[in-house]
Amino acid sequence: MKALYLEKADGPESVEVREIETPTPGAGEVRVAIKAASINHRELFIVHGQYPGMTVPTTMGCDGAGIVDMVGAGVTSAKVGDEVVLYPGRNWGPNRHAPGKDFGLLGMPFPGTIAEYVCVPVENLAPKPAFMSFEEAAALVLTGLTSWRALMFKGQLKSGETLLISGIGGGVATLGLAFAVAKGANCYVTGESEDVLARAKEMGAKDGLLFTDPEWRKQIGKMTGGIDVVLDGAPSPSFANYVRAINPGARIVIYGSTAGNEVKFNATDIFLKSASIVGSQVGDPEDFRDMLAFAGEHKIKPVIERTFPLAEARDALLYLHGKHQFGKVVVTV
Ligand SMILES: NC(=O)c1ccc[n+]([C@@H]2O[C@H](COP(=O)([O-])OP(=O)(O)OC[C@H]3O[C@@H](n4cnc5c(N)ncnc54)[C@H](OP(=O)(O)O)[C@@H]3O)[C@@H](O)[C@H]2O)c1
Repeated sequence: MKALYLEKADGPESVEVREIETPTPGAGEVRVAIKAASINHRELFIVHGQYPGMTVPTTMGCDGAGIVDMVGAGVTSAKVGDEVVLYPGRNWGPNRHAPGKDFGLLGMPFPGTIAEYVCVPVENLAPKPAFMSFEEAAALVLTGLTSWRALMFKGQLKSGETLLISGIGGGVATLGLAFAVAKGANCYVTGESEDVLARAKEMGAKDGLLFTDPEWRKQIGKMTGGIDVVLDGAPSPSFANYVRAINPGARIVIYGSTAGNEVKFNATDIFLKSASIVGSQVGDPEDFRDMLAFAGEHKIKPVIERTFPLAEARDALLYLHGKHQFGKVVVTV
């Protein structure tokens, strides 16, 4: 089969679509003929050798949707022909609050989805939502799961609360906005350009500020009237700008470190408001089921910016690296 394969982590140029052995499902596994996979920042970190616990060579990609084409011994809950979307992790473990030490994602350490076939445990399958294309279902996986868990499980976002989302052009941020608007939250955003802010308002954001303006902290309190939950994938440049505007009991959920790792804050801003700073990583199978059910109920679909055929999967990665602006980059198989 053909797959996007990384032999040695040496930058986006070092991956290639190549012929590798087609996998056969073991006991309790199914083989899925991938119809669409989507690309995340994670693949860029991996090709640069910057991802924790690097194990190469590897096939790439953790987002996938397709059709079951072979079932392994003992599998009764799936059959050939089922249209499915894949939970992107394996071995979460028993603790809902954090994954166990054996947890890992498809596309390193487990075989990835940017390939003609992937074998996964049958528990990784969920029915592809009928109102979504394979491309949309694949694009929902990691970003949807991450934003869902960060907002609803870690952030405990409730209807009527005020939410701030940083960097609204990002995949996690955009889906987070769609989920939060459907939940009935009052959503405010930061973004890089007026164009990105306008698109967020079209999706239901009440207002937004340019994070390129270093003085945005002076306007955020007045604009929002006080923030209950923050969804932040770039806390290094953002945190100090919103922390004064949080309400008592606020939850600041950090899911990424785009634009740097260091965050400096005044401890008094946190403890005098009994606020929480919470980290959030991907999501467990229960989050995945809840997210798909909510997306189905509210007909929420991810925004797809551009699709590439599998033969051009490396160009898709380079596109994410360079020109990508708003929405997901998808590979069709
Ligand atoms: N915790 C997890 O399990 C998990 C899962 C997935 C992703 N992540 C991490 O989350 C981050 C975002 O992932 P993604 O897939 O959404 O990536 P993405 O689509 O590339 O989005 C990144 C966004 O960061 C924003 N940004 C850049 N500089 C910023 C700044 N100075 N202040 C505020 N925002 C800034 C940009 O927003 P504008 O477009 O508005 O400029 C950009 O769109 C990455 O660091 C990724 O590694 C974590």
